[in-house]
Amino acid sequence: MGVNRTALIQVLGAVAYGELKAYEGAKEQARTASTDDERRVWKTQAAEELRHHRGFVKRLEALGADPERAMRPYRRALDSYHSDEPHDDIAAAIWDYLGEGVADDLLGWLRLVVDEETAEFIETVAADEVNHEARAAAGIRGRLHTPADHREAMLATMRMVGRMLASGAPDPRPFLAFVRLGRTPELLGALVGGQIRRLQSIGLRPLGVGVAA
Ligand SMILES: [Fe+2]
Ligand SMILES: [Fe+2]
Repeated sequence: MGVNRTALIQVLGAVAYGELKAYEGAKEQARTASTDDERRVWKTQAAEELRHHRGFVKRLEALGADPERAMRPYRRALDSYHSDEPHDDIAAAIWDYLGEGVADDLLGWLRLVVDEETAEFIETVAADEVNHEARAAAGIRGRLHTPADHREAMLATMRMVGRMLASGAPDPRPFLAFVRLGRTPELLGALVGGQIRRLQSIGLRPLGVGVAA
């Protein structure tokens, strides 16, 4: 099918596990929501994340792979990353916003490198993720009022990126599958460019580099 099948299975395993973590996170948000409206929103998101997880598991099965085995190498890194999620308001909103963003960027790239059927499924996932990202963007925007809030958001961003890198660092090998799947410049461009664009769109200056808005 013109795709490196082993790398594809590995990457789908990572994404499937990421969707499972997103489901668990949204379910927890629904459980602890302070209003009924909030709870409804998170319940919907949890249902969508679960659909994504199950869909990627199905794609793995369709490729003749064992989903559990494909997800296993990514468990430790993703569990460790998510176990560190902050609870204070601004930092949690940043993790939510940039986390949904990374997922969107990753899916945008993945759509370019996968087989046709997987790409079709990804379209439906991306449609849900647009709403998740919009909700998360509204969440962080509503919390940034003062320069001190902006500073806190920037610090939370740096901590989040650091945490992301640190969770993969003990054993980066499973993540090389993303490189083997191809179109790496697009992947890096989407991830780095996406973060910068998102930070600017909430009024932050990423890394103080003064990229034109
Ligand atoms: Fe998702
Ligand atoms: Fe999501």
